[in-house]
Amino acid sequence: MTSHYAVLGNPVAHSLSPDIHAFFAKNTHEDLEYGRVLVPEGEFAKTADAFFEHCDGCNITVPCKGDAFKYADELTPWAQAAGAVNTLKKLDGGKILGDNTDGRGLAADLKRLGIKVAGARLLIIGAGGAARGILKPLAEEKPAVITIANRTFEKAQDLAAAFPGIAAAARLGEARGPFDLIINASSSSLKGVLPAVDESVYQGCGCAYDLMYRPDGHTLFSDHAKEAGAARAYDGFGMLIMQAALSFALWRGIMPDAELACRHFR
Ligand code: ATR
Repeated sequence: MTSHYAVLGNPVAHSLSPDIHAFFAKNTHEDLEYGRVLVPEGEFAKTADAFFEHCDGCNITVPCKGDAFKYADELTPWAQAAGAVNTLKKLDGGKILGDNTDGRGLAADLKRLGIKVAGARLLIIGAGGAARGILKPLAEEKPAVITIANRTFEKAQDLAAAFPGIAAAARLGEARGPFDLIINASSSSLKGVLPAVDESVYQGCGCAYDLMYRPDGHTLFSDHAKEAGAARAYDGFGMLIMQAALSFALWRGIMPDAELACRHFR
């Protein structure tokens, strides 16, 4: 019997998730369909209730990750740490499980790219939902230190306090390297501007990674980081594929070939 999945959010028209999951389904020979569901403003619970009458699971995209967190009956430790849910699954008996695969998707993509987090000095730019979503999986890889630099310093402090001994807070312009890995988790790229960190942070940096992605693989941040001294720079496309693969594995119990998908879609 065909199982049904979808991405829920607003907007969803341009989401790549249906293409990615169709690719995974074909490659694993899983019998499923994956669509798009537009969530009208303020109607997440109503939309999700109707969805789960006939469907088995979904991805959640902006602006509904907080609503999905509240909606879930049970939460994985990653969803709890992130305070947001990007994957819902209907369990046997009808309860809804909420997970967050974004941070583990990033950790998996860094592995794919050969970027070591263990023992590394990390700089995370931004302290909003995107930063919160990646902190637990990164901290579990045992970096030497995670400096969280944010425009609003208090938000960096609050986030760092949840990871004592690993994370430290800095004002955006005051973070100083050396850093092995710099991750842009701010929404600056979305706004077409660069985060105002001191330019010296990029010098000697092994890798810069933007959580945003663009079709050509270049974001304002990734290009600038490379020009300013980072040895390598990536956009977040691999993370998109990896988080999707982890959602698929949660639903279907089988891990698709995410590396193959990365090559296929790029
Ligand atoms: P999300 O939950 O999607 O991450 P958010 O909570 O609005 O979105 O957080 C966006 C992050 O990007 C915040 O850390 C924000 O900094 P502030 O906390 O000071 O608002 C950061 N941000 C947004 N625009 C930025 C810019 N132009 N330069 C640097 N940081 C920026």
